[in-house]
Amino acid sequence: MTVAASPRLTPAAALRGTISVPSDKSIAHRALICAALGTGMSRVGLRNPGEDVRSTVLALRALGVSIIDLEVGDEFVLHVTGLGTRIALGSLGPGTADCGNSGTSMRLLAGAVAHGSGQSTLTGDASLSGRPMVRIAEPLRRMGAEIELIDSHAPVVVRGHRPLLALEHQLSVASAQVLGAIALAGLAADGLTTVSVPGIVRDHAERMLSAQGVQIERATYAGRTTTTILGPTDLMPMWIDVPGDFSSASAWIVAGALHADASLLLTGVGLNPTRTALLDVLRAMGARIDVQQQGEQAGEPLGSIQVRGGSSLNAVTLGAVDVAPLIDELPLLAVAMAAARGTSEVRGASELRVKESDRIAAMAAALTLIGANVEELEDGWRISAGRPLDATIVTHADHRIAMAAAVAAWTGVARSVVLDDPECVAISYPTFWRDARLLGIES
Ligand code: S3P
Repeated sequence: MTVAASPRLTPAAALRGTISVPSDKSIAHRALICAALGTGMSRVGLRNPGEDVRSTVLALRALGVSIIDLEVGDEFVLHVTGLGTRIALGSLGPGTADCGNSGTSMRLLAGAVAHGSGQSTLTGDASLSGRPMVRIAEPLRRMGAEIELIDSHAPVVVRGHRPLLALEHQLSVASAQVLGAIALAGLAADGLTTVSVPGIVRDHAERMLSAQGVQIERATYAGRTTTTILGPTDLMPMWIDVPGDFSSASAWIVAGALHADASLLLTGVGLNPTRTALLDVLRAMGARIDVQQQGEQAGEPLGSIQVRGGSSLNAVTLGAVDVAPLIDELPLLAVAMAAARGTSEVRGASELRVKESDRIAAMAAALTLIGANVEELEDGWRISAGRPLDATIVTHADHRIAMAAAVAAWTGVARSVVLDDPECVAISYPTFWRDARLLGIES
């Protein structure tokens, strides 16, 4: 495949305007899968969904779910006919489902087909086929599903089983995807399934399943979060308009915070407190950010975020307990660190090495090229400001690397940036370049 490089991105004169970012991809995946496991017809409303969410729609259809969609302009409405979680109603699979680039689709669906019928195969692109899958295969096997991997990786071949065993799981990795996979399997387990993770990870599965009438609870104790789910259980159908994606909004939050002349309003953004840690870190660095909550959707708070530029930021140090709630925002935060006074440090973030790309290495390379001082550590970076340069950035087809590098260019952290694959932003944010123009960014 050949990809066209971006135009040369340069510092913006000012950043002003109002943006509604696409629907949250984590919530959208869960809404679609939980709707498919519901007992009737659900309606899921999405704004400008990216390729990952579309992968979940296609994968569910391949696993036998009827989904009728209507796309008008920026709005995408899906009617999902739930198959239920009990054999009497039907079940997910068998089938072969392509999850594309989406780790969340593959891992959550593995949990959902663990109590499905027949054999289901989950495949993915080259990046997804290199990402770790033992983390989901091992707990789901313990629960009674048969799972085959190839050399610890996708394709993930699952032969479902009912009822699954209700067990206690102690995870060593802070992963909401693994937690979500086990919770979805736990819907068809006989009794109480518990999952304990180190630190705090996003709690969308808990909020959504609870809104569907499932008995599910989360408690935090001694630095670990434990989720308990009672099965077997039915899920009520849902009606949800998925809020805007905080991780997508983060590109503009960081851009606004770093720019000398910025005033940005981000509307309809998901404000789930397990996702918004970036705001606390940026405020601690000196950024001016105001948040107003304006409602809820299926237990998920949403509202608007106002960011004003012109502040000078100070360095910050983040450790393992800090990074899990802002794991997807770390590439953007690394750009903020390259604009701050002093030396910042991120540790305990080795999970970044197994995302869509090795984000520790990719950001270390990108920031070095744009002139920042970066030391790449096994589990993070040490970063301080340098002298802005012209750079051509290799995105590794990773949407978050592309957006972080663009923000570096628009805010003057780089003198200019060319991206090798600007279109990869469509994985999570297909309207990113359009929204940039709305804010007055010319290139
Ligand atoms: C996600 C969880 C995180 C995150 C990913 C989306 C989710 O991954 O990086 O983009 O929706 O559960 P891990 O759970 O593997 O940390």
